[in-house]
Amino acid sequence: MRTPLVAGNWKMNKTAAEARRLVTEQLPALQAIAAVQRVLCPPFPALMTVAELLAGTGIGLGAQNLHWEASGAFTGEVSPQMVGEFCQYVIIGHSERRTYFGETDQTVNRRIKAALGVGLIPIVCIGETLAENETSQTAAVLQRQLRDGLQDLTIEQGGKLVIAYEPVWAIGTGRAASGAGANAVVADIIRPTLQQVFDHPTAQAIQVLYGGSVTGANAAEFFGQAEIDGALVGGASLKPDFIQIVQAAAR
Ligand code: PGA
Repeated sequence: MRTPLVAGNWKMNKTAAEARRLVTEQLPALQAIAAVQRVLCPPFPALMTVAELLAGTGIGLGAQNLHWEASGAFTGEVSPQMVGEFCQYVIIGHSERRTYFGETDQTVNRRIKAALGVGLIPIVCIGETLAENETSQTAAVLQRQLRDGLQDLTIEQGGKLVIAYEPVWAIGTGRAASGAGANAVVADIIRPTLQQVFDHPTAQAIQVLYGGSVTGANAAEFFGQAEIDGALVGGASLKPDFIQIVQAAAR
C-alpha cells in the first residue's frame, strides 16, 4: 500500500508575510489529517518562515527548484544544500520550468541526483503538451521524460522518488484530466516505464501523483483511482480547497 501524498505548489505566489498568514490559517485543519503525507512548496524567500511554522507538525516542506552544483559562481541560483537546510522535498522539472526556463530532461536528471545527494525527496514532474496529446505522442513523451530524466539512478535512489503526472494542457486551465484517463496513463505508461528503468517492486512502490486543475470538487475522482497516490496542487493550494483536497485523499 502506498501512502497518499498531497503537495501544494504555490508557484510564484505569497511573500514571507503572506505565507505566514496562509500557513497559520491552514495549519490546524492540515495537522488533523495525519493519514496523508502533506507537503507545502512556497517560493524560496518564504521557506525559512514556513519551516518554523511547520516544525514538529508532521507536515513536509518543499522547494520548487534547485541548482545541481553545491556552490559557486551561479548568480541567482540556490544549491541543494541551501534547500536541504529547510526542506525535505523539492519539485523538479515542472512544465513551467521546462517551458519558460529551458529545463530539459538532462538538467532534470542533474537536479534529481543533486537533490538525492543531500537527502531531499524529488517530486519529479512529467507530462505531455496539448499538441503532443492530440498527435498521440503521450506515451513517447512520458517514456522519454522518465528514461532520460531518471538516467543512471540506482534502484535504491528510484525508491526515494515521487513522480507527478501533470498533463501540460490541464495545468492552470480549469480543464483537468478525467480520473480514469489519468489512471490509465499511470497504469499503462508510467509504471511500466518505471519498471523498465528500475524494477517491478520499485515501480509499484513509487508514489505517483496527478496534477493539473485539481480542486476540492474533483479531487475524490483522482484519489478513487488505483494507480493515483495523491496530487500536486497549484492554484487550489492557496485556497480553502486545499484542505478539502487533503481530506479527500484521507478517504
Ligand atoms: P494547477 O497547477 O493545480 O493550478 O493546475 C498544478 C501544477 O502546476 O503543479
